[in-house]
Amino acid sequence: MRVLIIGSGGREHALAWKINQSSLKPEVFIAPGNSGTATEGTNVPISEGNIAALMAFIKEKGIDFVIPGPELPLVQGIADACEEAGVPCFGPKRYAAGLEASKSFSKTMMLETGVPTAPFKVFTNYEKAAKYVDSCARPLVVKADGLAAGKGVVVAKTADEAKAALKAMLVDKMFGSAGSTVVVEDVLVGEEASFLAFCDGETVIPLPSAQDHKAVFDGDTGPNTGGMGAYSPAPVAPEHMYDELVALSMRPILKELKKRGQPFTGILYAGLMMTEKGPQVLEYNVRFGDPECQPLLMRLEGDLLQVMLAAAQHRLHEVTLAISPKTALCVVIAAKGYPGEFPKGMPISGLEAAEAAVPGKVKVFHAGARTENGQVVSAGGRILGVTALGADLAEAQKNAYAAAAAIRMENMHFRRDIGSKGLTNCWACSGKGE
Ligand code: AMP
Ligand code: GLY
Repeated sequence: MRVLIIGSGGREHALAWKINQSSLKPEVFIAPGNSGTATEGTNVPISEGNIAALMAFIKEKGIDFVIPGPELPLVQGIADACEEAGVPCFGPKRYAAGLEASKSFSKTMMLETGVPTAPFKVFTNYEKAAKYVDSCARPLVVKADGLAAGKGVVVAKTADEAKAALKAMLVDKMFGSAGSTVVVEDVLVGEEASFLAFCDGETVIPLPSAQDHKAVFDGDTGPNTGGMGAYSPAPVAPEHMYDELVALSMRPILKELKKRGQPFTGILYAGLMMTEKGPQVLEYNVRFGDPECQPLLMRLEGDLLQVMLAAAQHRLHEVTLAISPKTALCVVIAAKGYPGEFPKGMPISGLEAAEAAVPGKVKVFHAGARTENGQVVSAGGRILGVTALGADLAEAQKNAYAAAAAIRMENMHFRRDIGSKGLTNCWACSGKGE
């Protein structure tokens, strides 16, 4: 079986690594891939948003199964194109990918289907939005409607900050057409959790909870990034809540999409805020999170490719997920300066030493990295995802940092507190969630 994975991040390396363990013995291609995916299969120099070139490759190579990693190819209709070509694809078609592509679309669907989420309003006109901000007299969140590479959300403390964000999006067109519609919503207070599930349009199989760390510096300070580290499970969303979380945050949306003739297949990712009043949905993604994917797949013991095929072929009811009871934790090694300007081309060493630091427990996933004359060098902001298993969160954290300490690279930055919130600041562990 020939499988094409689309993307070039740590998530795609983890997908390729796990899929290679399948009993189906796939031949794996990755477009465009990185230095890590090159060790798992064949990298193909086609960018993730070039649907025409991807489809030409799929047909020419006789690809049997397509796995888009990031949202862009899904939002641009790779699943629709695959359906037309008769090739199974693990991911939603363009309409359902709107859950991630448009915040107004997803918020409106949440409202219509009773999914708990922050109260909101949608605006296209700056004056009207500014008037609403003034009338609210409370902190608000301003969100660009479309895809803005994680930079389109401003949690504003004051009315002036909210209006500045609105002006940047609606008047100055900072995000182009992605910001010509905005969502303005109430601030939610609590701890965040990522909750992902396999979906086939009917059956839902949740993965264990995870927690991302979006801010670039320790203590959740500094600008937001794509994610500086993640671990699973997240004590803030304990296992006894999974059924409730599926019922609350997933079933109503999946039912509505099916009713509209647009059943959702692939991974539905609910970004949750665990508030005092219960879980609320911040956003949906229509794919694996990066870096959440890395610890989740470290814990997955079954055959990922078989599960993904079952989802794409609407027979997930045949599947049970085998998940390790261990905790997995991923520390992202980034370039100093990311998410702003950062240097590239730094040679990286210590990759084998990192995996040997805690034998059998560590996997270093490559992200913004490529091989140049046999040497792995940095090629992006998030460069590696050092991922480790442990009996519990404390041990997974210890193992991941022991491994990260072996990596050598100039201008390297990583957070030292991935997982610490889960160890110290967890209402669920303190008994309130039981
Ligand atoms: P989103 O892309 O909607 O998930 O927003 C990105 C990040 O902004 C989230 O992970 C939260 O940290 C923060 N955020 C979004 N919406 C809210 C909200 N209503 N209240 C507080 N923080 C929020
Ligand atoms: N880690 C968050 C995301 O993938 O969107």
